[in-house]
Amino acid sequence: DTEKAAYKARIKALLIEKNAVLVAHYYTDPEIQALAEETGGCVADSLEMARFGSKHPATTIVVAGVRFMGETAKILTPEKTVVMPTLAATCSLDVGCPIEEFSAFCDQYPDRKVVVYANTSTAVKARADWIVTSSCALEIVEHLDEMGEKIIWGPDKHLGAYIQKNTGADMIMWNGACIVHDEFKTKALKDMKALHPEAGVLVHPESPQEIVDLADAVGSTSQLIKAAQNMPNQKFIVATDRGIFYKMQQLCPDKEFFAAPTAGEGATCKTCAHCPWMAMNGLKAIEEALTQPQGREVFVDMQLREGALRSLNRMLDFAA
Ligand code: 13P
Ligand code: SF4
Repeated sequence: DTEKAAYKARIKALLIEKNAVLVAHYYTDPEIQALAEETGGCVADSLEMARFGSKHPATTIVVAGVRFMGETAKILTPEKTVVMPTLAATCSLDVGCPIEEFSAFCDQYPDRKVVVYANTSTAVKARADWIVTSSCALEIVEHLDEMGEKIIWGPDKHLGAYIQKNTGADMIMWNGACIVHDEFKTKALKDMKALHPEAGVLVHPESPQEIVDLADAVGSTSQLIKAAQNMPNQKFIVATDRGIFYKMQQLCPDKEFFAAPTAGEGATCKTCAHCPWMAMNGLKAIEEALTQPQGREVFVDMQLREGALRSLNRMLDFAA
């Protein structure tokens, strides 16, 4: 509509005026992803967002995603201005892994390598030996296991269980979960599969083990998008945030995508497969991030940054 078109036009002009680039996650709303693409920014998974922002020549990065993505951008490029539509866009994994408790947990096992998911605060990243995202977690843990290392894993217990099952690594888990992926329902998914037996099942590994067990492909957001393109199926059932359908449908216009069920057996869905924090990245908030950056700019403690950068760089070098 015309109001949205006016927002988009103003944001486009502001991005140029401020030498800024818009980097969006696949879970943001379709119009935000489209805007990032139209303005020469990128739509990506969390690992690619980090890479894109740090390589792009813009002096301001607008991160449409959740807080840890903004912090990662700032850790990698402290000389740049990093703003977010709202700093309140957190993540249940980040919230569920406070530094004091996590650090005390790690202290109990000093002989183990601390491997943490990127969906964490800068302080937790600084406490870690390695950072991983879902696109490289399996390979990194496999590598550590081959080196004979034992692991402390946090915060996502489902991703941890998936990795442990596939690598056989010795892992002690922190008890965290994503509120969005945690809601997928096994019985309802089995029923849906029975209804569409020809459909491929694509699952993000933050989903519970029983959901992952029903998958034909498991991976990060960008890996699931590639699977949708490369697998011969014409239909797919997708167990991840529904924001991902924008890119899947764009790249595979002739294929059909169904959202995996979140409300089976009489339960009602809370998130309905859309992250409430990703949903905070609206057009109005993006414009405000560019016009009123106070309170929307991301800062990280410079001492913590050093530690977090060390473990982030390990991941980036490994996954290069
Ligand atoms: P990806 O690294 O797959 O983009 O996942 C990030 C995330 O927050 C998933 O919920
Ligand atoms: Fe965090 Fe889940 Fe939202 Fe991803 S979808 S940002 S893991 S709460």
